[in-house]
Amino acid sequence: MKSQENEPPYGEESTEGLSRRGFLQGMGGVGVWAGMAGLAGGDTPPTDADGKVIPGFEKPGDEPQAGTKWQPLSDRRIKVGIAGYGLCRFGAAFGYQQHPNVEVVAATDLDPGRCAALAKAVGAKKTYPSCEEMIKDREIEAVFIATDAPSHARLAIMALQHGKHVCSAVPAVFGFEAGDEAQKLHEAVRASGMTYMMNETSTFHAALYAKRKQHQAGALGRILYSEGEYWHDGVGTLAGYNPKNGRIDQHGWRRGLPPMWYPTHATAYYVSVTGGRLTEVSALGSESLYPVFKEEDNPYRNRFGTEIAMFKTSEGGISRMGVSWDMKDAHGEQGRVYGEKPHDKTIAGERPPLPPGMSAGGHGGSHGHLTNSFIESILLDRRPIVDVGDALNMTMAGIVAHQSALKGGEWLKIPQFG
Ligand SMILES: NC(=O)c1ccc[n+]([C@@H]2O[C@H](COP(=O)([O-])OP(=O)(O)OC[C@H]3O[C@@H](n4cnc5c(N)ncnc54)[C@H](O)[C@@H]3O)[C@@H](O)[C@H]2O)c1
Repeated sequence: MKSQENEPPYGEESTEGLSRRGFLQGMGGVGVWAGMAGLAGGDTPPTDADGKVIPGFEKPGDEPQAGTKWQPLSDRRIKVGIAGYGLCRFGAAFGYQQHPNVEVVAATDLDPGRCAALAKAVGAKKTYPSCEEMIKDREIEAVFIATDAPSHARLAIMALQHGKHVCSAVPAVFGFEAGDEAQKLHEAVRASGMTYMMNETSTFHAALYAKRKQHQAGALGRILYSEGEYWHDGVGTLAGYNPKNGRIDQHGWRRGLPPMWYPTHATAYYVSVTGGRLTEVSALGSESLYPVFKEEDNPYRNRFGTEIAMFKTSEGGISRMGVSWDMKDAHGEQGRVYGEKPHDKTIAGERPPLPPGMSAGGHGGSHGHLTNSFIESILLDRRPIVDVGDALNMTMAGIVAHQSALKGGEWLKIPQFG
């Protein structure tokens, strides 16, 4: 069994506000990729069809502790393969190519142009026509799966079965198959003994991370109430990978997406703070204002553009998590956590130092930290910060919340994975 993730203590940082408002305006289908495709390597943030930087991908400020306090754990360089360079160009956005303990040896995307662009951005010498092919490469020790959400679990399971460590973009499992995928993914991690981590960006938001340190130090006591939100106007109309034509267009996986099928930016605000579990849920949904949610060809037959869920927690507390693709004057990924005891300002809670030259990156300066944490968990054979149990609870809580919303708020139990 892997040891607990156990970073040294650090001081608290200010809350980051993450605006995604306007992400959608002007974004659509081929135009989006065409706009993005003209940009060079991974250092250039992706832009929308109007040339504006996609919120979450703005150039971050320098981390004050980056490079200065970082201590190498090893001179080992883990050989990494990276999959996926779609709308968000996520494959190059997490700084694997900058980490001193990483050698990015291979890149893949189903689309040859996106594959070549990813390989160039991350400096990979080898390319593969698919993640499935890349996973067979015996040289590769770890894979970063930044493909479309419906493919995450299948590719992660395959990679684990081929003896690779896996870091997966969120969510861990998806859609109607999520329950079945969760069981298989959990079993694949257990049977392989490899490291699996879900790249939940909220986990390394400065405010969440500080609360996690408070909780670990026993400062907050039992968490009585927590709430988390992912407000992002228009996601259900946003482009995504469309397996029917191989393009990134508005008939991809985001079309009509049930908000609670993408819950982890919100649910992290309980699970990543405490390591506890969301156990039961009652949720409500409200009909989306966007036409794609009313169409019969909505692939998920989903009407809801906003879903709000009340949860019971494993420590007898209450949690309220919300995801909306509709709300105006609301944006970002944020949350609040309240315990029996007050926040203790003497407990340090700043995020760990990063290697020299490694950027904290987008989404609240979380990208570099997630990569560094994943790599360190492999080097130290330590439990990753979002392990398979946390990943499945964060994700399945939303899957079951959507089921509850479809049943008018009926209380449902969330399947638990160790
Ligand atoms: N804050 C966050 O954590 C955050 C933000 C944005 C996106 N994401 C996640 O990042 C992932 C990528 O997002 P995106 O918008 O770029 O996705 P996308 O749907 O636009 O692109 C997916 C890419 O994966 C490629 N792909 C699909 N299957 C493949 C396979 N078998 N082998 C190789 N390549 C394959 C596709 O060709 C496409 O280029 C998504 O899962 C999304 O949920 C997370």
